[in-house]
Parts: sequence; C-alpha cells; structure tokens
Amino acid sequence: MSQVDVAAADEVPPGAMVRVEVDGQPVCLANVDGTFHAVHDTCTHGMASLSAGWLDPDMGRVECPRHGAYFRLDDGAAITPPATAPLPVFPVEVRDGRVLVGTTPSTPHPFDTP
Ligand code: FES
Repeated sequence: MSQVDVAAADEVPPGAMVRVEVDGQPVCLANVDGTFHAVHDTCTHGMASLSAGWLDPDMGRVECPRHGAYFRLDDGAAITPPATAPLPVFPVEVRDGRVLVGTTPSTPHPFDTP
C-alpha cells in the first residue's frame, strides 16, 4: 500500500483538523483524542471543505461548514442531512512521529464517479 507523509503528529494536536493533499486528493486529517482519522475533504453534498468546518471530538464527527451535515470520522458515514453519501476514508498510521496516509480510499468520492 502506498502512503504519503502528510504532517508531524505534533502539528495536529487533539481537537485539530487540517487539510492535506494525498496523491492529488484533498484530505481532512483530524485528531480525535490522539487518534488520527483521514477522510476526503470535500463534502458529499456540495463543494465545501470539511477541514474548514467543525470537529466534534466527543462524538468523533465533523460538521460541514456549508449546510451543517455531520459525518462520522471512523467510517465516513453521513449521519445527518442534507448529505446522504458517505465520505471516502483513508488509512492512517503514525510512525516515528509522522502521520502517514494511504493513497487508496475506502470508496471513490461520489463526485468522482460518472
Ligand atoms: S455542502 Fe456540505 S452539507 Fe451541503
């Protein structure tokens, strides 16, 4: 599996989200109580950047800044409308203080499929 080094782990403290790029794909990297999650950064409802939204670490979810849909960070599920399609999820590993994100997501983004 191919991975990309996206950040130093201590650059993204618990409760923080950042937008990174993985093999040309925008990815929202979130730190939930020390556990990193990586999901596609583009909302599945519209063209909004989820890393510009709000992280809810207590529930392990991110809120889209445009219309307020929530997505679970562990499996990408859309849990509140208006979004219905799940986010692609990327594998994440922390090694030697660096965050590595796999280049192959769980599913294609719905905007990328014909
Ligand atoms: S663009 Fe994200 S909920 Fe509409």
